[in-house]
Amino acid sequence: MKTSQFLLGIFLCFSLVACQPQTSVSSPDGNISVECTIDSIGTPMYRVICNGKEVITPSSLGLQFAHTDLTSGFMIKSSKCNEYNDTWETTWGEDHYIVNHYNELLFTLQHTSGTEMGICFRIFNDGWAMRYVLPELADTVLVKECTSYRFAQPPTVWSIPWETEYYEALWQPQRISEIDTVCSPITLEWEDGLYAWMHEAALHDYPAQNYYYANGQLNTYLTPWQSGDAAYIQTPFATPWRMMVLTSKLSGLVESRMLLNLNEPCKIEDTSWIKPMKFIGIWWGMHLKTMTWHQGPLHGATTENMKRYIDFAADNGFGGVLAEGWNIGWEDWGKEDVVAQFSFTEPYSDYDIKYLTDYAHQRGVQIIFHHETQGNAASYQRQLDTAFAYMQQHGMHAVKTGYVAPTIQTIDGVQYNRSQSGVRHYRKVIETAAKYQVSIDNHEPVMPTGLQRTYPNLMTQEGIRGQEWNAWSVDGGSPAEHVTVLPFTRMLAGPADYTPGVFNFDNPVHPNTRVHATLANQLGLFVVLYSPLQMACDLPENYMLHPDEFEFIRRVPCDWEKSLLLDGKIGDYVVMARQERNTHNWYVGAVTDEQPRIVTIHWNEFLEEGDYQAIIYRDSANADWQSNPYATNIDTLLVNKKSQPLSIHMAAGGGFAIRVEE
Ligand code: NOJ
Ligand code: CA
Repeated sequence: MKTSQFLLGIFLCFSLVACQPQTSVSSPDGNISVECTIDSIGTPMYRVICNGKEVITPSSLGLQFAHTDLTSGFMIKSSKCNEYNDTWETTWGEDHYIVNHYNELLFTLQHTSGTEMGICFRIFNDGWAMRYVLPELADTVLVKECTSYRFAQPPTVWSIPWETEYYEALWQPQRISEIDTVCSPITLEWEDGLYAWMHEAALHDYPAQNYYYANGQLNTYLTPWQSGDAAYIQTPFATPWRMMVLTSKLSGLVESRMLLNLNEPCKIEDTSWIKPMKFIGIWWGMHLKTMTWHQGPLHGATTENMKRYIDFAADNGFGGVLAEGWNIGWEDWGKEDVVAQFSFTEPYSDYDIKYLTDYAHQRGVQIIFHHETQGNAASYQRQLDTAFAYMQQHGMHAVKTGYVAPTIQTIDGVQYNRSQSGVRHYRKVIETAAKYQVSIDNHEPVMPTGLQRTYPNLMTQEGIRGQEWNAWSVDGGSPAEHVTVLPFTRMLAGPADYTPGVFNFDNPVHPNTRVHATLANQLGLFVVLYSPLQMACDLPENYMLHPDEFEFIRRVPCDWEKSLLLDGKIGDYVVMARQERNTHNWYVGAVTDEQPRIVTIHWNEFLEEGDYQAIIYRDSANADWQSNPYATNIDTLLVNKKSQPLSIHMAAGGGFAIRVEE
């Protein structure tokens, strides 16, 4: 449809209804606007204009139920506009305070079947969002969501294929016409310098969305139940938000907080027990095969090892120690066709829980528990109350959950973990954990959608090709480029438990697999990849090999006042600056791909008035991830906001980290 026809459509719809409902809405700054109408067969249509340019040409909306087709046959009953402007404080996060300012347009549509459907748009200065509102339905079996996006100009799309297990893949750029079905989120780049990030916010009691390209447009594919149905809706219901950040600056993607703003405010009254912290753990050893999860001669989570880790954590400013392999059930780990039966209240006999609880308490360290389910979500769900009560009884406030299985055994049978059934399970875990004051690090999750605003005990998640792949992946480990893509793709969906901080690049069991990084790059990741539960993954003995560089990890926080993207290019390099929460200290982290490069730090882009000391950890001139990864220079510089810009060299697979103290 041409613009003129579309405008005619709006005009017609104006003349059809008695009191001329408003059909367009703009962002508070007026730069983004959405126009909505009903076409000749009653299909809801919308288009998006950004800075005077059409980004999305008229595209259709709708839902298809088993017996009712809510994709056409509508007329506008009424429309309502609202402005909302508020600033809220985060429990933890990349920013301490977040502005939530948008204009909202709510259409109430009347369908020929008698059903009413609402379509709600929210337009922010940094993007737009839309959701369906269903007050009451006769037909509750949803077979398809028909939200579509017809771009005026074809973008390049960064994505991962929808069949990717646990979302653990390398992101690839493709022309939009070349993509098959891909997971949400996706990142879009246009030749004229516009960027977009598309995802869903506030996923609740509904399947996770995916996208596919067909008929010249991007379409929605909901992760189905095994029955083939998409969702079973209980009204009144509002779908998750379909959202698009739109910006002509790459920093606009990284600094957007639309995803959080589209989620409900915090529902946990007392959040004082929810504490961001760095942690170490009995973990990397299992991935390097020097330790085992199950009891035996190489058992990792023994009382003795845990005590050693607790001491190391207490001596070096870590808040927690993760204990993987503390509980019975690991004997069958890795065996095919065995349904795992983990107990979450029975430690192995060489893990003295009473002693370790007291010892950790005495040393001021939290033990982080581990609940691997191997996909047996049903069994876990039955144990949730006892499992979390057991943790509470032992003074533990954080758990890492896991679902290693391509499909999970839910209380509704075998389902995709991103199906509506899986989404319900994960929500149940978060809500139950909150009752027992337990925070969650969810591995093999549904892609995050900003729920941590509502439930800040959902602190971090995986859903990323993390560091562990560099221990055993048959492809040799992730290319250096990977960490320069993540900040603009997966990380925009929320904190990730990537586990940075490898200090020993030898890998005797898989000599052809390794971390494609220098030591300075591993330090930079603590700033680049955000997680309020941030794991330094390597073994204490490896950290002791490089005590000077380790000092950066000891000191770097994981809760921020403000976060800024200083520089970057998707897939090439990234430079982030973050201000430590409630202080005037800043941390800068940068990483590059396999290309060495020089970037320049402009102090006036983030420092306030005052004098600072900058401690810079950077690649030596001859550093290289393959041949010389440990070569690091540490320099101290006095700086203020008027200081000369500083150019820093990054080696191939390199990076740098700076601590700027007042
Ligand atoms: C996969 C997780 O990502 C990893 O961190 C964990 O160690 C194993 N599952 C075992 O639970
Ligand atoms: Ca590159």
